[in-house]
Amino acid sequence: NLPVKGKVAWKAPSNIALVKYWGKRPVQMPANPSISFTLDTCATTTSVAFEKNNSNTGFSFDLFFEGKPKDDFKPKIQTFLERIEKYLPFLKEYYFTIETSNSFPHSSGIASSASGMAALSLCLMDIEKQLDHALDEASFYAKASHLARLGSGSACRSIKGSLVQWGGHNNIPNSSDVYGIEYPFEVNPVFRTYCDTILLVHKGQKQVSSTVGHQLMHGHPYAENRFQQAFDNLDKLKPILASGDLEEFIKLVESEALTLHAMMMTSMPYFILMKPDTLEIINKIWEYRETTKIPVCFTLDAGANVHLLYPEAEKEKVRDFIKNTLAKHCENGQYIHDQVGQGAIKI
Ligand code: PMV
Repeated sequence: NLPVKGKVAWKAPSNIALVKYWGKRPVQMPANPSISFTLDTCATTTSVAFEKNNSNTGFSFDLFFEGKPKDDFKPKIQTFLERIEKYLPFLKEYYFTIETSNSFPHSSGIASSASGMAALSLCLMDIEKQLDHALDEASFYAKASHLARLGSGSACRSIKGSLVQWGGHNNIPNSSDVYGIEYPFEVNPVFRTYCDTILLVHKGQKQVSSTVGHQLMHGHPYAENRFQQAFDNLDKLKPILASGDLEEFIKLVESEALTLHAMMMTSMPYFILMKPDTLEIINKIWEYRETTKIPVCFTLDAGANVHLLYPEAEKEKVRDFIKNTLAKHCENGQYIHDQVGQGAIKI
């Protein structure tokens, strides 16, 4: 049995997809496989205090974000708890105090759903572990990733490992639609320390949420080809990741980013999440790469911000380029230097 009360805490990172997840089937199953770099600096820290609750009628919890009560996040957490209750039957027997904070600036336009859902899932699994002492490490992380997926699809890639793959693929052993796995093939050391500077182009609310975007892939004229392309790109990535062929890496990653946005522009209704400065930055990245031969490239999430990816060896030069050339296209000149991390940690 669980102790009457206790407290657990985890820090989980954000992630950036190289092959994008866009389109899903119920419940939170991906229409295509994806793979991401785990980030390091951009992370959410969450603690969950639990105390035996005698009423046992519904979920009972309070939520604090950066030290203050945050009632407008509660419906999302409520839905999440409803979804995962069948996997964690103790949930209604406890009152939870959830305290969460992000390492990245508040409303910076960086989505915290991946890191946030990953950190919360790990906390709940940690409580589950106190109930099931036999739970081995692999099952612990697989189940945490499974739960995180039910909170936010891409959150399942924010649990463990520096390169995480999610979505069943015939050529990737142990791959699953249900949870993310550490990429099982050879990875060239250059990718273990890869840098990602997030250029904050637009910090406001997105006009279209990723939930709506995923839905618009149903009946989308290019959906089937796009899903097939993602499967193929995972195959293509295998020798690239092993050899460290940056020229091929850049082609694949930039094409994935633009395809994601092409899907948005060709859905019905159609929409555009890029801003003029997103395109300015992309053009400057291409120009810089062309003239310096430094292998920088970009990727995009479902938003206007640009992720600038580059090898650690080029850090100094690229950071000068960011400061001198790209920063003026960022809202209030803001950007965040991050790099590939290892996954979540218990604190
Ligand atoms: O996890 P969601 O439902 O917010 O979807 C995220 C989708 C992208 O960030 C655009 C791509 C990805 O694979 O992370």
